[in-house]
Amino acid sequence: MKRIAGFISSLAFATLLFNSVSSLRANTREVRVYSGRHYNTDRQVFKKFADETGIRVRLIEATGISLIERLKREGKKSKADVILLVDAARISNAAKLGLLQPYRSNKLEVNVSKEYKDSQGRWYALTRRVRVMVANPKIVDINKINSYSDLADPSLKGLVCLRKRNSPYNQSLVANQFVLRGEKETKTWLNKMISNVSEPYFPGDIGITRAVAQGKCGVGIVNHYYVARMLAGVNGTKDKKLAQRVEVITPNPAHVNVSAGGLARYATNKKEAIELLEFLASPEGSTGLAGPTYEHPLKGFNQSPEVKRFGGFTPDTVSIYQLGKYNAKAINLMTKAGWE
Ligand SMILES: [Fe+2]
Repeated sequence: MKRIAGFISSLAFATLLFNSVSSLRANTREVRVYSGRHYNTDRQVFKKFADETGIRVRLIEATGISLIERLKREGKKSKADVILLVDAARISNAAKLGLLQPYRSNKLEVNVSKEYKDSQGRWYALTRRVRVMVANPKIVDINKINSYSDLADPSLKGLVCLRKRNSPYNQSLVANQFVLRGEKETKTWLNKMISNVSEPYFPGDIGITRAVAQGKCGVGIVNHYYVARMLAGVNGTKDKKLAQRVEVITPNPAHVNVSAGGLARYATNKKEAIELLEFLASPEGSTGLAGPTYEHPLKGFNQSPEVKRFGGFTPDTVSIYQLGKYNAKAINLMTKAGWE
Protein backbone atom coordinates (compact mmCIF):
# COMPACT_ATOMS: atom_id res chain seq x y z
CA MET A 1 0.00 0.00 0.00
CA LYS A 2 1.34 3.32 -0.95
CA ARG A 3 0.35 6.86 -0.40
CA ILE A 4 0.62 9.21 -3.26
CA ALA A 5 0.87 12.73 -1.98
CA GLY A 6 0.48 15.28 -4.69
CA PHE A 7 0.77 18.87 -3.68
CA ILE A 8 -1.36 21.11 -5.78
CA SER A 9 -0.98 24.36 -3.97
CA SER A 10 -3.51 26.93 -4.87
CA LEU A 11 -3.58 30.00 -2.66
CA ALA A 12 -3.75 28.76 0.89
CA PHE A 13 -5.04 25.31 0.11
CA ALA A 14 -3.15 22.11 -0.35
CA THR A 15 -4.61 18.95 -1.80
CA LEU A 16 -3.32 15.58 -0.70
CA LEU A 17 -4.27 12.25 -2.12
CA PHE A 18 -4.52 9.00 -0.17
CA ASN A 19 -4.72 5.93 -2.31
CA SER A 20 -4.50 2.23 -1.94
CA VAL A 21 -2.82 0.19 -4.68
CA SER A 22 -6.10 -1.47 -5.55
CA SER A 23 -7.67 1.93 -6.07
CA LEU A 24 -5.36 3.20 -8.77
CA ARG A 25 -7.85 2.40 -11.51
CA ALA A 26 -9.65 5.15 -13.36
CA ASN A 27 -13.06 4.29 -11.94
CA THR A 28 -11.89 4.37 -8.33
CA ARG A 29 -14.40 5.50 -5.74
CA GLU A 30 -13.34 8.73 -4.13
CA VAL A 31 -14.21 11.03 -1.25
CA ARG A 32 -13.16 14.67 -1.01
CA VAL A 33 -12.49 16.02 2.44
CA TYR A 34 -12.30 19.68 3.44
CA SER A 35 -10.53 19.70 6.78
CA GLY A 36 -10.03 22.41 9.35
CA ARG A 37 -8.07 19.95 11.47
CA HIS A 38 -4.48 20.97 10.88
CA TYR A 39 -2.87 17.78 12.05
CA ASN A 40 -0.50 15.88 9.79
CA THR A 41 -1.22 12.75 11.79
CA ASP A 42 -4.80 12.67 10.44
CA ARG A 43 -3.25 11.53 7.19
CA GLN A 44 -2.43 8.12 8.67
CA VAL A 45 -6.12 7.64 9.40
CA PHE A 46 -7.15 8.59 5.85
CA LYS A 47 -4.56 6.20 4.50
CA LYS A 48 -5.90 3.42 6.66
CA PHE A 49 -9.42 4.11 5.41
CA ALA A 50 -8.18 4.06 1.81
CA ASP A 51 -6.38 0.78 2.43
CA GLU A 52 -9.37 -0.85 4.07
CA THR A 53 -12.05 0.30 1.65
CA GLY A 54 -10.28 1.05 -1.62
CA ILE A 55 -11.88 4.49 -1.53
CA ARG A 56 -9.45 7.24 -2.45
CA VAL A 57 -9.35 10.21 -0.06
CA ARG A 58 -8.67 13.63 -1.50
CA LEU A 59 -7.81 15.94 1.37
CA ILE A 60 -8.01 19.70 1.14
CA GLU A 61 -6.62 21.57 4.10
CA ALA A 62 -7.12 25.27 4.59
CA THR A 63 -4.29 27.24 6.08
CA GLY A 64 -5.37 30.79 5.37
CA ILE A 65 -9.02 31.67 4.92
CA SER A 66 -11.61 29.61 6.67
CA LEU A 67 -13.16 26.55 5.14
CA ILE A 68 -16.56 28.02 5.81
CA GLU A 69 -15.73 31.06 3.69
CA ARG A 70 -14.50 28.81 0.93
CA LEU A 71 -17.63 26.65 1.02
CA LYS A 72 -19.86 29.71 0.99
CA ARG A 73 -18.01 31.06 -2.01
CA GLU A 74 -18.09 27.76 -3.90
CA GLY A 75 -21.80 27.22 -3.30
CA LYS A 76 -23.28 24.49 -5.51
CA LYS A 77 -20.00 24.14 -7.36
CA SER A 78 -18.24 22.91 -4.24
CA LYS A 79 -16.41 19.63 -4.62
CA ALA A 80 -16.53 18.91 -0.88
CA ASP A 81 -18.05 15.63 0.27
CA VAL A 82 -17.00 15.65 3.91
CA ILE A 83 -16.37 18.70 6.09
CA LEU A 84 -14.23 18.41 9.22
CA LEU A 85 -14.05 21.30 11.69
CA VAL A 86 -12.79 21.88 15.19
CA ASP A 87 -15.04 23.44 17.80
CA ALA A 88 -18.75 23.23 18.43
CA ALA A 89 -19.36 26.81 17.30
CA ARG A 90 -17.71 26.27 13.92
CA ILE A 91 -19.55 23.06 13.07
CA SER A 92 -22.89 24.48 14.26
CA ASN A 93 -22.24 27.56 12.19
CA ALA A 94 -21.62 25.42 9.11
CA ALA A 95 -24.93 23.65 9.76
CA LYS A 96 -26.78 26.94 10.28
CA LEU A 97 -25.38 28.28 7.00
CA GLY A 98 -26.79 25.25 5.17
CA LEU A 99 -23.36 23.90 4.24
CA LEU A 100 -24.17 20.44 5.61
CA GLN A 101 -26.90 17.93 4.89
CA PRO A 102 -28.54 15.58 7.38
CA TYR A 103 -28.05 11.86 7.22
CA ARG A 104 -28.48 8.88 9.52
CA SER A 105 -26.51 5.72 9.89
CA ASN A 106 -26.70 2.86 12.34
CA LYS A 107 -22.96 2.91 12.94
CA LEU A 108 -23.02 6.62 13.82
CA GLU A 109 -26.03 6.13 16.06
CA VAL A 110 -24.09 3.53 18.01
CA ASN A 111 -20.66 5.19 18.07
CA VAL A 112 -21.57 8.83 18.70
CA SER A 113 -23.56 9.44 21.85
CA LYS A 114 -26.43 11.91 21.99
CA GLU A 115 -24.58 14.89 23.47
CA TYR A 116 -21.95 14.67 20.74
CA LYS A 117 -24.16 14.84 17.67
CA ASP A 118 -26.65 17.11 15.99
CA SER A 119 -30.26 16.04 16.59
CA GLN A 120 -30.92 16.64 12.89
CA GLY A 121 -27.96 14.47 11.86
CA ARG A 122 -26.02 17.26 10.16
CA TRP A 123 -22.81 16.63 12.11
CA TYR A 124 -21.20 14.08 14.38
CA ALA A 125 -18.30 14.60 16.80
CA LEU A 126 -15.13 12.65 16.11
CA THR A 127 -12.73 13.64 18.89
CA ARG A 128 -12.97 15.43 22.24
CA ARG A 129 -10.93 18.11 23.98
CA VAL A 130 -11.17 19.53 27.50
CA ARG A 131 -10.85 23.23 28.28
CA VAL A 132 -8.61 23.15 31.34
CA MET A 133 -6.77 25.73 33.42
CA VAL A 134 -3.02 26.05 33.56
CA ALA A 135 -1.55 27.59 36.69
CA ASN A 136 1.88 28.49 37.97
CA PRO A 137 2.09 27.11 41.51
CA LYS A 138 4.79 29.65 42.40
CA ILE A 139 2.39 32.49 41.71
CA VAL A 140 -1.07 31.28 42.64
CA ASP A 141 -2.46 28.88 45.21
CA ILE A 142 -3.54 26.03 42.97
CA ASN A 143 -5.65 24.52 45.73
CA LYS A 144 -7.96 27.49 45.49
CA ILE A 145 -8.57 27.08 41.78
CA ASN A 146 -10.95 24.27 40.94
CA SER A 147 -13.48 25.68 38.50
CA TYR A 148 -13.67 28.36 35.81
CA SER A 149 -15.65 30.50 38.24
CA ASP A 150 -12.68 30.59 40.63
CA LEU A 151 -10.90 32.84 38.11
CA ALA A 152 -13.28 35.57 39.25
CA ASP A 153 -11.73 35.63 42.71
CA PRO A 154 -10.35 39.09 43.64
CA SER A 155 -7.10 37.47 44.86
CA LEU A 156 -6.25 36.80 41.20
CA LYS A 157 -6.21 40.47 40.21
CA GLY A 158 -3.74 40.96 37.36
CA LEU A 159 -2.90 37.25 37.26
CA VAL A 160 -5.44 35.82 34.80
CA CYS A 161 -4.44 35.45 31.13
CA LEU A 162 -7.02 34.82 28.45
CA ARG A 163 -7.11 34.17 24.75
CA LYS A 164 -8.90 36.75 22.60
CA ARG A 165 -12.66 36.88 22.37
CA ASN A 166 -12.61 35.77 18.74
CA SER A 167 -11.39 32.32 19.78
CA PRO A 168 -14.26 29.85 19.29
CA TYR A 169 -12.82 27.80 22.17
CA ASN A 170 -13.59 30.58 24.64
CA GLN A 171 -16.91 31.39 23.02
CA SER A 172 -17.91 27.77 23.55
CA LEU A 173 -16.71 27.91 27.15
CA VAL A 174 -18.87 30.97 27.83
CA ALA A 175 -21.85 29.35 26.07
CA ASN A 176 -21.26 26.34 28.29
CA GLN A 177 -21.29 28.42 31.47
CA PHE A 178 -24.38 30.28 30.24
CA VAL A 179 -26.25 26.97 29.88
CA LEU A 180 -25.09 25.71 33.27
CA ARG A 181 -25.35 28.87 35.34
CA GLY A 182 -27.77 31.17 33.57
CA GLU A 183 -27.30 34.71 32.36
CA LYS A 184 -27.02 36.57 35.66
CA GLU A 185 -24.36 34.33 37.15
CA THR A 186 -22.42 34.19 33.89
CA LYS A 187 -22.39 37.98 33.66
CA THR A 188 -21.08 38.29 37.20
CA TRP A 189 -18.40 35.66 36.56
CA LEU A 190 -17.31 37.36 33.33
CA ASN A 191 -17.17 40.85 34.82
CA LYS A 192 -15.09 39.73 37.77
CA MET A 193 -12.80 37.47 35.74
CA ILE A 194 -12.21 40.18 33.11
CA SER A 195 -11.29 42.63 35.89
CA ASN A 196 -8.57 40.14 36.91
CA VAL A 197 -7.08 39.91 33.41
CA SER A 198 -3.48 40.78 32.74
CA GLU A 199 -3.43 42.25 29.23
CA PRO A 200 -2.72 41.77 26.40
CA TYR A 201 -5.19 39.07 25.39
CA PHE A 202 -3.41 36.17 23.71
CA PRO A 203 -3.84 34.94 20.13
CA GLY A 204 -3.39 31.26 21.08
CA ASP A 205 -3.36 28.69 23.87
CA ILE A 206 0.35 27.90 23.53
CA GLY A 207 1.22 31.53 24.23
CA ILE A 208 -0.86 31.42 27.39
CA THR A 209 0.82 28.23 28.60
CA ARG A 210 4.25 29.78 28.01
CA ALA A 211 3.30 33.00 29.80
CA VAL A 212 1.99 31.09 32.81
CA ALA A 213 5.17 28.99 32.91
CA GLN A 214 7.35 32.11 32.70
CA GLY A 215 5.43 33.73 35.53
CA LYS A 216 3.98 36.50 33.40
CA CYS A 217 0.55 35.17 34.35
CA GLY A 218 -0.63 33.12 37.30
CA VAL A 219 -3.38 31.19 35.57
CA GLY A 220 -4.95 30.81 32.13
CA ILE A 221 -7.50 28.75 30.23
CA VAL A 222 -6.35 26.42 27.43
CA ASN A 223 -7.27 23.21 25.65
CA HIS A 224 -5.58 20.27 27.33
CA TYR A 225 -3.79 18.96 24.24
CA TYR A 226 -1.65 22.08 23.81
CA VAL A 227 -0.02 21.40 27.18
CA ALA A 228 0.28 17.69 26.38
CA ARG A 229 2.04 18.42 23.09
CA MET A 230 4.42 20.79 24.81
CA LEU A 231 5.14 18.17 27.49
CA ALA A 232 5.78 15.56 24.82
CA GLY A 233 8.34 17.80 23.19
CA VAL A 234 6.38 18.21 19.96
CA ASN A 235 7.23 21.93 19.95
CA GLY A 236 10.85 21.44 21.03
CA THR A 237 12.71 21.19 24.31
CA LYS A 238 12.19 24.80 25.31
CA ASP A 239 8.43 24.40 25.36
CA LYS A 240 8.76 21.02 27.03
CA LYS A 241 10.63 22.61 29.94
CA LEU A 242 8.09 25.40 30.17
CA ALA A 243 5.16 22.99 30.22
CA GLN A 244 6.77 21.08 33.08
CA ARG A 245 6.45 24.20 35.22
CA VAL A 246 2.69 24.50 34.93
CA GLU A 247 -0.02 22.67 36.75
CA VAL A 248 -3.05 21.55 34.74
CA ILE A 249 -6.31 21.93 36.63
CA THR A 250 -9.27 20.04 35.18
CA PRO A 251 -12.58 21.32 36.55
CA ASN A 252 -14.96 18.63 37.71
CA PRO A 253 -17.21 18.46 35.79
CA ALA A 254 -15.33 19.88 32.83
CA HIS A 255 -16.33 21.72 29.67
CA VAL A 256 -15.73 19.36 26.76
CA ASN A 257 -15.52 20.51 23.16
CA VAL A 258 -15.10 18.45 19.99
CA SER A 259 -13.89 18.25 16.47
CA ALA A 260 -16.68 17.07 14.24
CA GLY A 261 -17.55 16.04 10.73
CA GLY A 262 -20.53 16.32 8.45
CA LEU A 263 -21.74 15.50 4.99
CA ALA A 264 -21.36 18.47 2.65
CA ARG A 265 -24.58 19.90 1.24
CA TYR A 266 -23.54 19.34 -2.38
CA ALA A 267 -21.59 16.11 -1.87
CA THR A 268 -21.35 14.10 -5.07
CA ASN A 269 -19.76 11.07 -3.42
CA LYS A 270 -22.36 10.73 -0.71
CA LYS A 271 -22.03 7.02 -0.08
CA GLU A 272 -18.24 7.22 0.22
CA ALA A 273 -18.54 10.30 2.44
CA ILE A 274 -20.81 8.50 4.88
CA GLU A 275 -18.45 5.51 4.89
CA LEU A 276 -15.57 7.80 5.78
CA LEU A 277 -17.51 9.55 8.54
CA GLU A 278 -18.53 6.18 9.95
CA PHE A 279 -14.91 5.12 9.96
CA LEU A 280 -13.70 8.32 11.64
CA ALA A 281 -16.32 8.04 14.38
CA SER A 282 -15.61 4.34 15.01
CA PRO A 283 -13.40 3.43 17.97
CA GLU A 284 -10.57 2.73 15.51
CA GLY A 285 -11.00 5.98 13.59
CA SER A 286 -11.61 8.22 16.59
CA THR A 287 -8.62 6.81 18.48
CA GLY A 288 -6.55 7.11 15.31
CA LEU A 289 -7.36 10.81 15.05
CA ALA A 290 -7.15 11.61 18.76
CA GLY A 291 -4.12 9.55 19.77
CA PRO A 292 -1.31 11.46 18.04
CA THR A 293 -2.92 14.88 18.59
CA TYR A 294 -3.33 14.27 22.33
CA GLU A 295 -7.07 14.78 22.04
CA HIS A 296 -9.47 12.28 23.59
CA PRO A 297 -11.42 9.82 21.45
CA LEU A 298 -15.23 9.85 21.59
CA LYS A 299 -15.14 7.04 24.10
CA GLY A 300 -12.44 6.56 26.71
CA PHE A 301 -9.34 8.66 27.18
CA ASN A 302 -6.08 9.47 25.43
CA GLN A 303 -3.55 6.91 26.62
CA SER A 304 -0.36 8.98 26.31
CA PRO A 305 1.59 9.50 29.56
CA GLU A 306 1.36 13.26 29.02
CA VAL A 307 -2.43 13.32 28.98
CA LYS A 308 -2.75 10.64 31.66
CA ARG A 309 -0.77 12.92 33.93
CA PHE A 310 -3.71 15.38 33.86
CA GLY A 311 -5.99 12.74 35.38
CA GLY A 312 -9.28 11.83 33.76
CA PHE A 313 -12.23 14.14 33.39
CA THR A 314 -15.96 14.10 33.88
CA PRO A 315 -17.82 15.95 31.15
CA ASP A 316 -20.57 18.29 32.30
CA THR A 317 -24.11 17.96 31.00
CA VAL A 318 -23.96 20.58 28.25
CA SER A 319 -24.33 19.19 24.74
CA ILE A 320 -22.30 20.29 21.74
CA TYR A 321 -25.52 21.43 20.09
CA GLN A 322 -26.16 23.82 22.99
CA LEU A 323 -22.68 25.33 22.63
CA GLY A 324 -23.49 26.19 19.03
CA LYS A 325 -26.97 27.40 19.84
CA TYR A 326 -25.72 29.92 22.39
CA ASN A 327 -22.61 31.03 20.50
CA ALA A 328 -24.01 34.45 19.57
CA LYS A 329 -25.24 34.94 23.12
CA ALA A 330 -21.78 34.07 24.42
CA ILE A 331 -20.04 36.55 22.13
CA ASN A 332 -22.49 39.21 23.25
CA LEU A 333 -21.85 38.53 26.93
CA MET A 334 -18.08 38.51 26.38
CA THR A 335 -18.20 41.82 24.52
CA LYS A 336 -20.31 43.47 27.20
CA ALA A 337 -17.90 42.27 29.89
CA GLY A 338 -14.97 43.83 28.02
CA TRP A 339 -13.34 40.58 26.82
CA GLU A 340 -11.19 41.87 24.00
FE1 LIG B 1 -6.71 23.81 18.81
